[in-house]
Amino acid sequence: MEKKAAAMGAAARVSGIVREFQKKCDSPIGKLHNVADSMAVEMRVGLASEGGSMLKMLISYVDNLPTGEEEGLFYALDLGGTNFRVLRVHLGGKGKGLIKTEFDEVSIPPHCMTSSSHELFDFIAAELARFVATEGENSHPFPGRQRELGFTFSFPVRQTSISSGTLIKWTKGFSIEDAVGEDVVGELNKAMERVGLHMRVTALVNDTIGTLAGGRYYNPDVVAAVILGTGMNAAYVERANAIPKWQGPLPRSGDMVINMEWGNFRSSDLPLTEYDNDLDVASLNPGEQIFEKMISGMYLGEILRRVLLKIAEEAEFFGDSVPEKLKIPFILRTPHMSAMHHDTSSNLKDVASKLRDILEINNTSLTMRKVVVELCDTIATRGARLSAAGIYGILKKLGRDTRKDGEYQKSVIALDGGLFEHYEKFRQSMESTLKELLGEEASDSVVITHSNDGSGIGAALLAASHSQYL
Ligand code: GLC
Repeated sequence: MEKKAAAMGAAARVSGIVREFQKKCDSPIGKLHNVADSMAVEMRVGLASEGGSMLKMLISYVDNLPTGEEEGLFYALDLGGTNFRVLRVHLGGKGKGLIKTEFDEVSIPPHCMTSSSHELFDFIAAELARFVATEGENSHPFPGRQRELGFTFSFPVRQTSISSGTLIKWTKGFSIEDAVGEDVVGELNKAMERVGLHMRVTALVNDTIGTLAGGRYYNPDVVAAVILGTGMNAAYVERANAIPKWQGPLPRSGDMVINMEWGNFRSSDLPLTEYDNDLDVASLNPGEQIFEKMISGMYLGEILRRVLLKIAEEAEFFGDSVPEKLKIPFILRTPHMSAMHHDTSSNLKDVASKLRDILEINNTSLTMRKVVVELCDTIATRGARLSAAGIYGILKKLGRDTRKDGEYQKSVIALDGGLFEHYEKFRQSMESTLKELLGEEASDSVVITHSNDGSGIGAALLAASHSQYL
């Protein structure tokens, strides 16, 4: 009898904690409108002066996007998540498009993410050299020319030209003190010299800029790009004369692409919970990237782990003792969470097996598994709805949420990143929320496209349009 009463008490405590969490995560449409409004306001502030806003609104020095006429063989390096890629891209020129892309993908050894600049760039240069070495001597279509490289470096960089820039700070799991404030192209060049690789970086780009360029190559209506992956961020095409802090000459196109670094956005309208605050405090960059920490792939699984730990500790959710594995930060990754969230079996067998394999929690009841799925849903839905609010904020800033001369302008947004690509429920929720925010009429003119591998190809395209041989 007593045992039963205790169990009922624990169940009530679990549901109390879960309900409280869900309430705090709630993102009703009114709140999302506020988020979008403050995003648009902060965009203006960030464009007005350097350091004026939490949004850095970084100038990319990309004032011309690909046209389809780019031609030649170019390389790209894509660094910024857990994987690192090297690409060789053969561009056919007008009417011919992309002839061939080859790439190699390697995961970055975790120690390289936190050791020294030297070690990270040596690793990159060695991989690049290995990739180039697989080519036959005569494989370069323009013998005698130096190989040219587009470097996608997906961290906040203050650019000094299209092919140089200093690292402002690290984000995601990276933290290499001696690289901050350094010219990342300089660091790469030195490392390439050390391995005897003769290559020249002709474009240094953020992954959002690469994705925008890659998206535009296929579709002239692409006006913005969003990454929803390990981290999250957006870039868009701004009118240069709407950037008061831009001191350079007005580009002939009249445009300048801006890397927003919106992962660092925050606002009192963000539905933050105690779990987000604890995650932030324990992170490598406390107080920073708050929007990113609520939404991106690096963190969603960790938020789930923290909530599960809380109900294990305070309501004996997994029995009398707290499972040891559950205490390990970042053990539960977003792909695991996604797999559990998408479990359609009647007994939630995938949830059971993930809990068993990753957390060593056996004998879970169906009721428990249902709670886990519910938590996945709460966390993913909040992230998806907030990312939709961010996109809507950009459309508002550009005036593309309303009619111009009686018509809505067609706006295509190029998306990429593992979260967008592989977490279906996240993507669906993001897309339907964006429609909800835009309203029925305007939403017909906004299209989301998947720009597959856009950031690497985009970097190669920008390397081509900034080639020394043009
Ligand atoms: C982080 C980086 C940003 C990048 C994004 C997506 O937010 O700071 O530069 O674009 O992750 O990879």
